Amino acid sequence: MTARVIDGKAVAAKVREQIADVVEQFRNQSNVEPHLAAVLVGDDPASAIYVRNKERACEKVGIKSTLHRLSGETTQAQLLDLVQQLNSDRSVHGILVQLPLPQQIDPIAILDAVTPLKDVDAFHPENVGLIVQGRPRFLPCTPRGVQVLLAESGTDVSGKHAVVLGRSEIVGKPMALLLMQKGETANATVTICHSRTQNLADVTRTADILIAAIGSPEFVTGDMVKPGAVVIDVGTNRVNDKLVGDVAFDQVAEIAAAITPVPGGVGPMTIAMLLQNTLTAAKLSVDS
Ligand SMILES: NC(=O)c1ccc[n+]([C@@H]2O[C@H](COP(=O)([O-])OP(=O)(O)OC[C@H]3O[C@@H](n4cnc5c(N)ncnc54)[C@H](OP(=O)(O)O)[C@@H]3O)[C@@H](O)[C@H]2O)c1
Repeated sequence: MTARVIDGKAVAAKVREQIADVVEQFRNQSNVEPHLAAVLVGDDPASAIYVRNKERACEKVGIKSTLHRLSGETTQAQLLDLVQQLNSDRSVHGILVQLPLPQQIDPIAILDAVTPLKDVDAFHPENVGLIVQGRPRFLPCTPRGVQVLLAESGTDVSGKHAVVLGRSEIVGKPMALLLMQKGETANATVTICHSRTQNLADVTRTADILIAAIGSPEFVTGDMVKPGAVVIDVGTNRVNDKLVGDVAFDQVAEIAAAITPVPGGVGPMTIAMLLQNTLTAAKLSVDS
């Protein structure tokens, strides 16, 4: 293997330590305990694990977390009621509705109902609009986690060609937005690819920075990567009870200059950025 492995676990631990220090200072100065309310509907085991990990991460940095667990039969009106209660609860600073929701509930209706000031996932159209305009209130957790990994690994992004595989609202689209903005670890020339992109490998081979977020196990193979590229693997796919990324790690590590592993790459960063956003939301509640 020639590529340097970018250790997301270690970077996330460092970021969490920094957040814990700021949380302590903030609590001492303001007497306010940052508080994340998580909402879990139904009993999808993977969602339950994600929420549990987020709660644990909160506890470790001094952020209070409460879990609202609702049955899989919950109606949209009942969930909207809960969101409204959390919106008006002054002790709650961040609201996280774990996706996916059961099929009787329209996720857009729910996510739009979360007040933008507590929207720590940065999914609300107002917050997305602020990101588009380069004046974010909250930064989207996974894309921001990738950006911090790029910064911490010393990757030069400015003027480079970044190719983002995937155009979802959660990862691909906001990822492209962050990299194309003016600012630190940004100013890239960005190309977005999706399932209709023609000659995909021809495009990916021109990437100085390649970010894979498509949800297809080991889709990115060695022949799709330019020698010396930095490859970030957002994918988390369960294959035979094992977590596998969107990148064929062993092959690509022979060609790339740096690469993130799965697990232990982007995943821990996503949670660290959620903590950061919850702290930001608590600070906003004091300022407003
Ligand atoms: N590590 C983390 O913290 C974290 C966080 C979020 C997501 N993830 C993982 O990241 C992956 C992507 O998540 P997501 O929510 O963005 O997924 P998604 O909503 O399913 O979007 C997938 C995107 O990939 C594109 N795509 C699918 N197959 C493709 C192909 N063969 N060639 C080119 N493009 C293709 C789709 O194109 P179309 O738009 O044309 O359909 C779509 O834009 C998943 O594995 C997910 O589990 C990880």
